[in-house]
Amino acid sequence: MRWIATCPHETVDVLAAELRDLGIRDQQPLHRGIAFATDLETAYRAHLCLRTASRMQRVVAEFAAPDPETLRAELRKIEWPEWLRAHRPFTVVPTLTDPPSQALGEATVIASIAESVRTGAFSKSAPTFCADADNAITVVAFLRQGRCVLGLDTAGRALHKRGWRMTGHPAVLKETLAASILLLAGYTGQEPLLDPMCGSGTIAIEAAYLALNKAPLIHRGKDDFALEHLAGFDRALWRRVSDELRAAKRNVLPAPIYASDIRPEYVEVARSSALRARVEKYLELSSKPFQDWHPPSASGLLVANLPYGERIGAGALSTLYREVGDVIKTRFPGWRIALLVAADAPLHLLALTTKQEISLMNGALPVKLLIA
Ligand SMILES: C[S@@+](CC[C@H](N)C(=O)[O-])C[C@H]1O[C@@H](n2cnc3c(N)ncnc32)[C@H](O)[C@@H]1O
Repeated sequence: MRWIATCPHETVDVLAAELRDLGIRDQQPLHRGIAFATDLETAYRAHLCLRTASRMQRVVAEFAAPDPETLRAELRKIEWPEWLRAHRPFTVVPTLTDPPSQALGEATVIASIAESVRTGAFSKSAPTFCADADNAITVVAFLRQGRCVLGLDTAGRALHKRGWRMTGHPAVLKETLAASILLLAGYTGQEPLLDPMCGSGTIAIEAAYLALNKAPLIHRGKDDFALEHLAGFDRALWRRVSDELRAAKRNVLPAPIYASDIRPEYVEVARSSALRARVEKYLELSSKPFQDWHPPSASGLLVANLPYGERIGAGALSTLYREVGDVIKTRFPGWRIALLVAADAPLHLLALTTKQEISLMNGALPVKLLIA
């Protein structure tokens, strides 16, 4: 069985390591993701466990599609009843990445796939093509250099949507980016962690999940993953994998996780999200300025997503960067540091000696992860 996990281009290596940890060795890196081969049980586990994947697909077929006739002929070979359920509508998302595939045209690709499903050997009626149905299964067609990779989206909602986020903070990180930051910083949960600018608590909550060996998607509701609505879904296996993951969660945090923010209302957002994520009791939440922090232990990981200039103004940002750099250098000498900052932020004002500067994207904003 072949699958694809997608992620931002910059974090493909982190995702590859996560897949290896699940025992998946047969991997093929893609521009924004990884194709891999594994059995159904491991793939189910991956859906619930991967912290940095954006989406997942089950690969239906890969074939040459240099022209519309070959595309249609290859599509006719697909046994759609083995993939789609008759009562579930579907939509098609084509990605045509180069001039030869663009020459086919999106409309042709969509119409050809819709036609092959409509004429598939379903016992009664075939599933209907409906681009805007809320519950539609997405057929993904990726075309490049005359070849088509056809997949079914198995995630449904994007995987950063863990199901616990509360609203109330204007600049939250995606959960998948927070997990990538922690993994890039080498956090395993065995050392104290402090996020002194925690905002809505994304990093601290993801850190608690990691430290507790808790599967990040385990609280998604029944029927929330698209794979639960595909033909061949094995409900008993899915339940067993979910139960095993629940049982593998630790009940004690190996080392404390501290999170604070200068704004008490953001700490309350973090608290409600952590409650919903069922990790609130593991977090030491407080409200205070970073400038008031003294290290709670001799060593640990200080990780923070610093404010961006457009929200607080250039003058305040310069002062803050200077103060953050001073506090880190004078009070946290035994700590490892991971700071996520805008790529155009005044990094020289932090005056930190970094071991690594990793370019990432926070949505559309280029950012850097400084590791010191
Ligand atoms: C970019 S946001 C962090 C967002 C967070 N990573 C999340 O996912 O919700 C930066 C946070 O730093 C906080 N902040 C700004 N100045 C601070 C200071 N001097 N001490 C502590 N927190 C501060 C802001 O209130 C804001 O919540």
